[in-house]
Amino acid sequence: MKAHLITYGCQMNEYDTHLVQSQLVSFGADIVDSVDEADFVLINTCAVRGKPVDKVRSVLGDLRKQKQKRPLVVGMMGCLAQLEEGQQIARKFEVDVLLGPGSLLDIGQALESNERFWGLQFKDELHGHIPPPPAGRLQAHLTIMRGCDHHCTYCIVPTTRGPQVSRSPDDILRELDLQLAAGVQEVTLLGQNVNAYGVDGGARLAGYPSFADLLRLVGQSGVRRVKFTTSHPMNFTEDVAAAMAETPAVCEFVHLPVQSGSNRVLRRMAREYTREKYLEHIAQIRRHMPHAVLATDIIVGFPGETEEDFADTLSLYDAVGYDSAYMFIYSARPGTPSYKHFQDLPREVKTERLQRLIARQKEWSNRKNAEKVGTVQEVLLRGDAHESGFLEGHTRGNHPTVVPKAVGADGAGIVQVRIEHATPHMMYGRILGEGGQPLPELPRFTPESSALSSPLQMA
Ligand code: SAH
Ligand code: SF4
Ligand code: F3S
Repeated sequence: MKAHLITYGCQMNEYDTHLVQSQLVSFGADIVDSVDEADFVLINTCAVRGKPVDKVRSVLGDLRKQKQKRPLVVGMMGCLAQLEEGQQIARKFEVDVLLGPGSLLDIGQALESNERFWGLQFKDELHGHIPPPPAGRLQAHLTIMRGCDHHCTYCIVPTTRGPQVSRSPDDILRELDLQLAAGVQEVTLLGQNVNAYGVDGGARLAGYPSFADLLRLVGQSGVRRVKFTTSHPMNFTEDVAAAMAETPAVCEFVHLPVQSGSNRVLRRMAREYTREKYLEHIAQIRRHMPHAVLATDIIVGFPGETEEDFADTLSLYDAVGYDSAYMFIYSARPGTPSYKHFQDLPREVKTERLQRLIARQKEWSNRKNAEKVGTVQEVLLRGDAHESGFLEGHTRGNHPTVVPKAVGADGAGIVQVRIEHATPHMMYGRILGEGGQPLPELPRFTPESSALSSPLQMA
């Protein structure tokens, strides 16, 4: 079998694609890079907003056409597959295999079956399953919990992924050991709400550490860098900030989605915290880690959001000063409480507010990144950048960074970099040697200049 996998959605979906892909490989499948080469195409889907759903519809439309011309098995997995909306789409586009996020290990059974196979149960076996580490990569994801116990009124995730189930610390550490043995240097712990780790359905599980203690445990494993996502402010504790500060491997980077700066909107979203409480968490983080890098998620144009509410979001931006933010226009998702009970705002109102917020964030990213010029940052280089002769990677604070290749540093790895130039989206610098001096650069040839270029010409 020649299989091609396509992934939409968040890092949890990327992890799940890797999990299913490794199952396919263990059954003898070849993983191919394009739909044209494949006889099995599997799409990992997202349902969090309307756009990713539209995307799946259009890809499935193309695949249905191909199916009329040649033998092709089409599969759909992940969040959208779990919803009635997704199942309707699957019927319409003649999808052969459908696997919800809790049924991924049914993939073998699905491929053996001669008829349409739909797996939609949440199965416990998934939690103990340890996929092999990603081959030849310095970064890995590690799912520490599945599902979500919150009920934010706009969000479809608790429906698609079910209630929260934490993985046992043993399974987590066993998977981490395999990743370390394979050369992984940075691990990102994943969950919809990692701060609630070990407290499923409101009850602490016996023998499970708190998330702060899990960070300490993972930090002792020998891994060079630990990151995590996502944190819900409601479950964030000061001990998490303390554990981050005292555990050198844990990166001083916090992605703490706020969604809105208005208490009235936060209440209607059922986020279970106030703006004031949120700002207290930010103060705690800064107290423990003065140079913490902060990121957030925002929903613009939640139903009933007034100009005054939006002004509260802008002022929260200025109160926090985020290094980066994911900003979304509210998307009414069938099956969520806000879809049922609230009236959506006009498109133009939402778009106009988003533009204003993006502009504000750009100012902050610009200012925050400019502050890094002249500092030394630890960068995990992934490999060649778009521009030849350069390498790309990211800092402990997740800033994308580009450096010229240097003598003794021309591939993937962790290096020290002096930042020389920054834009709102990218930092540029030079790799330092042991003594803190820039390493000599490798010569470069650029077609534009037909000459050797200086490192900052591209910035
Ligand atoms: N569990 C994570 C979020 C997962 S979804 C958390 O609570 O932080 C990722 C982001 O998508 C959310 O933070 C939110 O900003 C956005 N999102 C979720 N539902 C949305 C919707 N209906 N419309 C627009 N954005 C949405
Ligand atoms: Fe969705 Fe809220 Fe759960 Fe995050 S915490 S996945 S936004 S319900
Ligand atoms: Fe999308 Fe599911 Fe992730 S809905 S954002 S893929 S949890």
